[in-house]
Formats: sequence, C-alpha cells, structure tokens
Amino acid sequence: MKITVIGEELKNNDALEQFSIDVLTGLCSKPKMLPAKYFYDDIGSKIFQKITSHNDYYPTRSEFNILKDICSKLPKVLTDEEIDIIELGVGDGHKSKLVIDGFKDAGTKVNFYPIDISREAMNLLKENIKEDDQLSIEAIVSEYFQGLKYVREHSKNKKLILFLGSNVGNFNIVQVQGFLRRLWLTLGKEDHVLIGFDLKKDINKLLSAYNDSDGLTRDFNLNLLTRINRELGGNFDLDKFQHFGTYNPSLGAMESYLVSLEDQDIKIDELERSFHFKPYEAIHLEYSFKYIENDIDFLSEKTGFEVIKNYYDENKYFTDSLWKVLK
Ligand code: AVJ
Repeated sequence: MKITVIGEELKNNDALEQFSIDVLTGLCSKPKMLPAKYFYDDIGSKIFQKITSHNDYYPTRSEFNILKDICSKLPKVLTDEEIDIIELGVGDGHKSKLVIDGFKDAGTKVNFYPIDISREAMNLLKENIKEDDQLSIEAIVSEYFQGLKYVREHSKNKKLILFLGSNVGNFNIVQVQGFLRRLWLTLGKEDHVLIGFDLKKDINKLLSAYNDSDGLTRDFNLNLLTRINRELGGNFDLDKFQHFGTYNPSLGAMESYLVSLEDQDIKIDELERSFHFKPYEAIHLEYSFKYIENDIDFLSEKTGFEVIKNYYDENKYFTDSLWKVLK
C-alpha cells in the first residue's frame, strides 16, 4: 500500500494550536459548544470502534448488511474494466472491503484511494485490505477535496466515491449542501457517489443508540474533556458533567450535550484563563442529522446529482444512496 501525503502534513504544533483556538472559541460561545471532530483522538477512536459494534448502535450493522447485499449489484450499474473507488474518511475497512470485493468478483480492476487527514487512520485499513493484481491501494493523507483533486489529476478512470457511516449526518443543512456542491464540482459526469444516510425512525430507537446501555457514548463524549485536560492542561472533573443525548424533532437530529452538574470554574492552562459554568449549563458537542427519502431527493436535486437508487436494510433503519453526477 502506497501512502501519499499531500501538501504539508499538519504538524503537531499546528494541530494543537488549532485545537486551542477551537476550544477557546467554543467555550466562549453562548451556548457553549465544542466541535465533534475532536472526539477522535486515539482513545476516542477506540471507543467509537466499540460503539459501532454495540447492540444499541444500529447504524454500522445496518449499513454493513446493506453493503453485503448490494456489493454484487454495484458493478452492474458502474460497468467498466477498471474503476477508482475513493473513500472519504477511513474506518477499519470492513465496509470498504465489501464494495471492493464486489467489483473484483465482477472482473473489474480496482484502484482504491482512501482519503483521511490522519495517517494513523490508515493503519487498521492496512491490516484489513490487501493489494493483489486486481487491487491497488494508494492511501492519501490530506483534506478530502485536496485528495480528490489529486486522484482526478492522476487517473481518468470512472470514479465511485464512498462517504459511508452517516458521517454526512454531522453536517447541518447549510454545510451539507456546500459539501455536496464542492463534490459535484470535483467529479465528472460518469462518476457516482454512495452516501450513507441514517434514517428518521422511532425516537426510542434513536435515543438508545446514542445512550447505549454500557455507557460507551457517555465515555466517548466525556473523553473530549479528558483530551482537553491532557493536551491543553485543563482541570475538568468528569464526575461533575453528565452526558445527555437527545433527539431534536424540529431539526431532525440527535444532539449530544455535557451538562455541568454544579456551579464551577474550569481552568485551562494553555488558554491562560478559566471558564465559568452555571449549574446545569450545557456544552453542545454533536449533531447527527437523520433523513427521510424525501430529504435525500431534495438534497441530490439541489446539488446536481441524480438518485439512482436508495438501498435499505431489512428494518429500513439506514440507507446507502447511490447518486450519479449530472453534468
Ligand atoms: C461517526 C458521525 C456517524 O453520528 O452516529 C456515534 C458519531 N456519535 N455515537 C454518528 C457518533 C455518537 C457517528 N458518526
């Protein structure tokens, strides 16, 4: 597996400075917030990995079943001798492997380009997907769109973009359209995208997925405070914050908060100041937007794509939506 680093890899110092600024901005905001992208340090990524196989968290399992079901069908829609599969954001590779093997079994040569800003993210992948004469892998360490531009400049093959796992759910309505328009602009008219959307469903099902019975989601959220303590010299006491995962039906999104259980001041050395928390004051951590088929149609139409097909799991909890670029 070849690894290509595009531009300059974010140096530790730059990354830490960006983290400081984002925490400062977030904790000065009213209401307080912290960006969800900082969940994924080494410990956070391990906890997330555990969440994905927990019985209460249905999305990963549902999507895996969808992909198992459709991997032999995709090569019939995207027929060619050779294809570039580009994955935005890299997981452990189990889901990508299903799609890749589907094309290999259909006799298609696959060039797999996983793109992720973190080099570490490629390690798990390296163990789970192996190159052979039908599969070449070039892992790209960069921002999504820098990586996409690189692939487009280096290969003229038909492209299938994978944006799985309901990662799209972290974007709000404005961000998601910006992201998709940019994707459209980067792609050609023979290209396709496969996007994982988590669907609106019984609220209790949502609530238990984001408040799992083993407290993994709680630990996942609290770990962000631990990360601030370790990397920025904070003094958050985890026992004084409560995880609260709730569904906002007007937004159609799961939201997670950490709620301060008492009046307290939190000192963060690196930021040279403290932050006051009133009793029961909340920090907003994450949105996870949920969709219905109609939202997906609307979104694709607005951003220049045609929905080829929505593939569902047997419970209709999740959909992988296959889009074609309209140009
Ligand atoms: C990685 C953004 C898809 O929103 O379901 C899981 C993150 N947060 N449990 C999601 C998450 C709490 C997850 N995504």
